[in-house]
Amino acid sequence: MPADAPTTLFHLSDIHFGLEDNKALDWVKQEIAERRPAAVAITGDLTMRARAREYAAACHWIQSLLVPVTVEIGTHDMPYFNLIERFFAPYRRFNAIQGLLEREIDLPGIAIVPLKTAVRAQPRLNWSKGWVSRSALSKCLAAIDALPAGTKALVAVHHPLREVGTKGTALTANGYKALCELAKRPVLGVLSGHVHDPFDILEETAHGPVRMIGAGTLSQRLRSTPPSFNELTWDGATLKVRARNLDEVPTRAMQIDDVPENALPPREPGEPVAAVGQVPRTDPPVH
Ligand SMILES: [Fe+2]
Ligand SMILES: [Fe+2]
Repeated sequence: MPADAPTTLFHLSDIHFGLEDNKALDWVKQEIAERRPAAVAITGDLTMRARAREYAAACHWIQSLLVPVTVEIGTHDMPYFNLIERFFAPYRRFNAIQGLLEREIDLPGIAIVPLKTAVRAQPRLNWSKGWVSRSALSKCLAAIDALPAGTKALVAVHHPLREVGTKGTALTANGYKALCELAKRPVLGVLSGHVHDPFDILEETAHGPVRMIGAGTLSQRLRSTPPSFNELTWDGATLKVRARNLDEVPTRAMQIDDVPENALPPREPGEPVAAVGQVPRTDPPVH
């Protein structure tokens, strides 16, 4: 059943505690307190290097929001230096917010359903890229299929489900396969992070288009747009996306036109941000 009143959701990403933007975070927290979104989805890269002090700051901030939150795991959120811990207990450091990890949030007429794309290890050299495992996809699809009739899904991931590059270099391995399955279901969009710039694009598949919505970063690791988050409004018929930012740059000028192939930091904190709206399609990437 469609929601009776519009539902507001906040989509945050890539806060990277350790290199967070505190001015932006204070503002977002105030916006959450005033607007009281029905839920907040944080699509990964909560921390910079998964250090204990970064987790402590992240957990403290999330717990202060006092609204339902779901947190996706990003590649930066698993132990970086300790490979044994990364493999055997990748989420141990998340303890304080264990219950919020990759959890489904059910609201009237709409649900946020997680799909894991950050894995502890994968059979290629660059582990910062995404990987949709068969079990992760099955779990996500089963959750969507179990939603009450008429309920729409927003799927929360860290990596955009884009399989650019060759098999070995794909941004998100099995991303296309996942998109095809999502296209067959009542999915309003896929919420992602990782890229550090917002976007809102339609991805074509053999089974129809899927809307891919990316949130920018709330860290100092800027790519081409100021710190931002997405405000989503669902009125039962249309999902509207606003890329909110302190600089009051209009949403369309905040959004990049395409998903970059890779995601490496292009600049050091403090370097000027490129002119908004002049982002080439092959822009150097971030994560
Ligand atoms: Fe990332
Ligand atoms: Fe990131």
